[in-house]
Amino acid sequence: MTEPLHIVLASSIAQRDPAIARWITSGRGSLAFILGDVDCRYRLLAQAINWDRVLIACRNGVPLGYAAFKQHRRGPFSPGIRPFINEFGLLSGLLRYGLFAISECREWRYGFYLYGLRVRKTARRQGVASALLHATCERAQDSGHRTIELEVQANNLGARALYARHGFTSIHRFPVTLNRLLPVPTVLNLRRRLSPHP
Ligand SMILES: CC(C)(COP(=O)(O)OP(=O)(O)OC[C@H]1O[C@@H](n2cnc3c(N)ncnc32)[C@H](O)[C@@H]1OP(=O)(O)O)[C@@H](O)C(=O)NCCC(=O)NCCS
Repeated sequence: MTEPLHIVLASSIAQRDPAIARWITSGRGSLAFILGDVDCRYRLLAQAINWDRVLIACRNGVPLGYAAFKQHRRGPFSPGIRPFINEFGLLSGLLRYGLFAISECREWRYGFYLYGLRVRKTARRQGVASALLHATCERAQDSGHRTIELEVQANNLGARALYARHGFTSIHRFPVTLNRLLPVPTVLNLRRRLSPHP
């Protein structure tokens, strides 16, 4: 019999597995021009994970997916400037740190923001992301938020189908001009309204 899926806040897991840190930091691929490749992102961000901003879905103790979120302007990463300087040198490090900070600030207008969602390839299309979305929405609701927002790359049709199925609708298209200035993909901003608890 298949074990049920457990969703836990990563900060409640006593042993924070470096493999999970590597997995979480491998997101933000769209910012590779600032944060470098997967190994580089791990070096920059792994020591700066806010584990209370990450939900993990496990079955039989095996992590299958995660949802990272930003609440009260605090997201899953709070890196200092030092790792950027160590990695890229003074000037490039300062510039990249500044660009990363700007990219993070861009999301400050959102009350509760779904920062990242990922499921292991072998566990896809089994409802893991749906369960994580459900748990994330409950969290937002429990802390009094009336909406949850996210950004999805326009060409990520699988994720768009998932979000549409869960009641997210488009609120605003990111200015196309930004794509001309920076090597970032076109993203759609989506929102779901949450009904307040009775
Ligand atoms: C997108 C992603 C999170 C979906 O995870 P998942 O666990 O497979 O999703 P679920 O099983 O909960 O899917 C629920 C529904 O969403 C839709 N959906 C999910 N993935 C889909 C896909 N690739 N194509 C079309 N519809 C999809 C379907 O309606 C699906 O229901 P069904 O399987 O009964 O048809 C996963 O594919 C992933 O990790 N992708 C890489 C990272 C990513 O793109 N993250 C989103 C960033 S915004």
